[in-house]
Amino acid sequence: MRTLTYFVATSLDGFIADPKGGFGDFLFEGDHMTAIVEEYPDTLPAQIRDTMGVDAPNQHFDTILMGRATYQVPGGLPSPYPHLRQYVVSTRLSTTPDDVQVVADPLAKVRELKEESGDLGIWLCGGGRLAATLLPEIDELILKIHPIVLGKGIPLFAGDFPTARFGKASTRIFDTGVVFTTYSRAETS
Ligand SMILES: NC(=O)c1ccc[n+]([C@@H]2O[C@H](COP(=O)([O-])OP(=O)(O)OC[C@H]3O[C@@H](n4cnc5c(N)ncnc54)[C@H](OP(=O)(O)O)[C@@H]3O)[C@@H](O)[C@H]2O)c1
Repeated sequence: MRTLTYFVATSLDGFIADPKGGFGDFLFEGDHMTAIVEEYPDTLPAQIRDTMGVDAPNQHFDTILMGRATYQVPGGLPSPYPHLRQYVVSTRLSTTPDDVQVVADPLAKVRELKEESGDLGIWLCGGGRLAATLLPEIDELILKIHPIVLGKGIPLFAGDFPTARFGKASTRIFDTGVVFTTYSRAETS
């Protein structure tokens, strides 16, 4: 069974973007970025891969799920992750490129994708609203915690949902002050 991983950058106080959806306060240079480029090239959008000359094979994910607001982030390409199977969750998006599929029921889609065979996982890119819907299906959380306090913005999980418990954390600390923390779903949740 394939796993769903919410791999996301967050502030110390749990915001993934500022109130307008921008993430200019996050750090995009330094040793944590080197780790992302070397170990998670699959999570870099096409324009960054092109700029940096990254053409590495996917290491963790072969599929991405994005909420419509994440997909339509200003400056984003119509096919932002062409090296992955791309799904956008939306009830009102009608036109997308051939390699970007629109999904209306994300829970059903994730359960279907998880049943597929394959070595690589499914990346829940965000945003907070989609993550709240998919929380019952999230197997792994990888939080890229940036050393900033935003005070307000788009929450890591936005909406009403029952408590979910994670355990078995591991942590990597970078010179930039960014910390990657990985949690697995607790057995009892
Ligand atoms: N820090 C990071 O690593 C990171 C990663 C990703 C995103 N972000 C940020 O997150 C922000 C967007 O997050 P967000 O929480 O506002 O929005 P979002 O989750 O990206 O998108 C919300 C939209 O997705 C669709 N959707 C979500 N859940 C649905 C469901 N259960 N059923 C049907 N449709 C559903 C709806 O689209 P329709 O209205 O079309 O139905 C909804 O309006 C962006 O500004 C982006 O910058 C940050």
